[in-house]
Amino acid sequence: MENKRKPLLMANWKMNKTAERALSWLTSYLLLTEGRSQVGDVVVCPPFTALYAMHQRLAEAENINLALGAQDIFWMESGAYTGEIAAEMLTECGVEYVICGHSERRQLLQESSEMISKKCGAAVSAGMTPVLCVGESLSIREGGLTMEWLEAQLNESLRFWDKKSDIVIAYEPIWAIGTGRAASAADAQSACLCIRNFLREIAGDVADTIRILYGGSVTPDNVDELMTEPDVDGALVGGASLQAEIFAEIALTDR
Ligand code: PGA
Repeated sequence: MENKRKPLLMANWKMNKTAERALSWLTSYLLLTEGRSQVGDVVVCPPFTALYAMHQRLAEAENINLALGAQDIFWMESGAYTGEIAAEMLTECGVEYVICGHSERRQLLQESSEMISKKCGAAVSAGMTPVLCVGESLSIREGGLTMEWLEAQLNESLRFWDKKSDIVIAYEPIWAIGTGRAASAADAQSACLCIRNFLREIAGDVADTIRILYGGSVTPDNVDELMTEPDVDGALVGGASLQAEIFAEIALTDR
């Protein structure tokens, strides 16, 4: 089937930038990209505290191709859940995408696939698109168990999914995140193809419409090669998204 999926490029700032620094990034990014064509859809995921200010600034701008994403969500609508963030708090800030199950949260905060599945469900119910992250550790890769691992993570984390609503999957091998050691384009392609085949098994042709991103040490130097692969529909960019100039280099098609 011909690939008609629109490329998607996402900036994941993690726990970086105050609201003030986020706004100065935004000012630079809008200047750098004004009137120029960017790769498909572009999304920035700042910390929660910067979302509202960025939303307001974006609402004032015209003809921009930059949507907002959040780095996490909680599955309950409101109530006694100290420290958590509800879907309507995000939609009020104009959030359209929500990263769910990043490996840093799975590892450092012991998020289980069951929790992640509920988070994805909460995003969908509120009309946002979950970006479900999956990926193997180095020992799993070296043990030759990558594909089984990815299928198990998908199986457990996709329980919420009605097999229709829009979702994005981000393949993020843990050994490639923040290490400067990106997966080769061929390895990214075979993992993304495995993910698509699994989606096809459970959801049929809908699998051909789902965007699958690669994440892990993406830079302006390797993004083209990665995104040329047929099943890699975009990238989730951490470190290289913190500077507006570098992220713009990744996003612009006429650089
Ligand atoms: P990185 O992070 O680009 O800094 O490797 C990617 C991610 O964790 O989403």
